[in-house]
Amino acid sequence: MDVLAALRLQYEWGADEALLDAPQDRRGATPAIPPATLSPATPPARPSPRPAALPGGPAEAARAAAACHSLDELKAALDGFTGCALRDTATQLVFAEGPEDARLVIIGEAPGAEEDRAGRPFIGAAGQLLDRMLGSIGLDRRRVRIINTVPWRPPGNRAPSESEIALCLPFLHRHIALIRPQRLVTLGAIATRALLPEAGNQGIRRLRGAWRPATIQDLDSPLFCLPSYHPAYLLRTPTAKPESWQDLLLLREWLESGDYHENVI
Ligand code: URA
Repeated sequence: MDVLAALRLQYEWGADEALLDAPQDRRGATPAIPPATLSPATPPARPSPRPAALPGGPAEAARAAAACHSLDELKAALDGFTGCALRDTATQLVFAEGPEDARLVIIGEAPGAEEDRAGRPFIGAAGQLLDRMLGSIGLDRRRVRIINTVPWRPPGNRAPSESEIALCLPFLHRHIALIRPQRLVTLGAIATRALLPEAGNQGIRRLRGAWRPATIQDLDSPLFCLPSYHPAYLLRTPTAKPESWQDLLLLREWLESGDYHENVI
């Protein structure tokens, strides 16, 4: 048995955290099912098929999202939406944080392990860097709405798949439409491509650095969106920080312009 391969498989399935303080050696443990019941003639029970795309394909996601007229309803609809299999492996829904009438919405990729545990977006290392980045231009995170492209943690922190993104996209559009912000910031290629489909497969390096119009379902006019590097990428690639700073300056320029209307917290 290739122990490393088994460990890798567990990691890919999302078992990437120790839950007990001390390791448990289960090799000598009494089996939970008495051996007599493990008849070789009885084929092992197959796991019942996941509700993956059964009760909720993209069309149902779009219907469910469109029926929501408040953020509370949207949260409840997402909580009850079984179409996206990510919800089965995540601990909980990570809905959003920040004012419901925020002028600026920041969109990340997906919750990580700490966000999954706490139910709050961007609280781990990348979130702490995001807080410092916003602070460097005088912006307190409590003034912005923070959402993720997909609201459940993908197992093992893998990137969300195209179909998972497509299932969650109607909820993201509805979230933005209910808030009606003035501007958007997308962090990383996943969030940027989700909201700027015309970007195709272009990398974030090409897309960042300019305000681009994003068409949001149910909003009459496009919202300007500033794509930038994801803070997790900046943690791995500090050489990208000067470009990220250029993006923050663009954001600050707008914050200091007459176009930005502050909401009171
Ligand atoms: N990365 C994200 O994109 N979102 C989070 O909430 C945390 C890390």
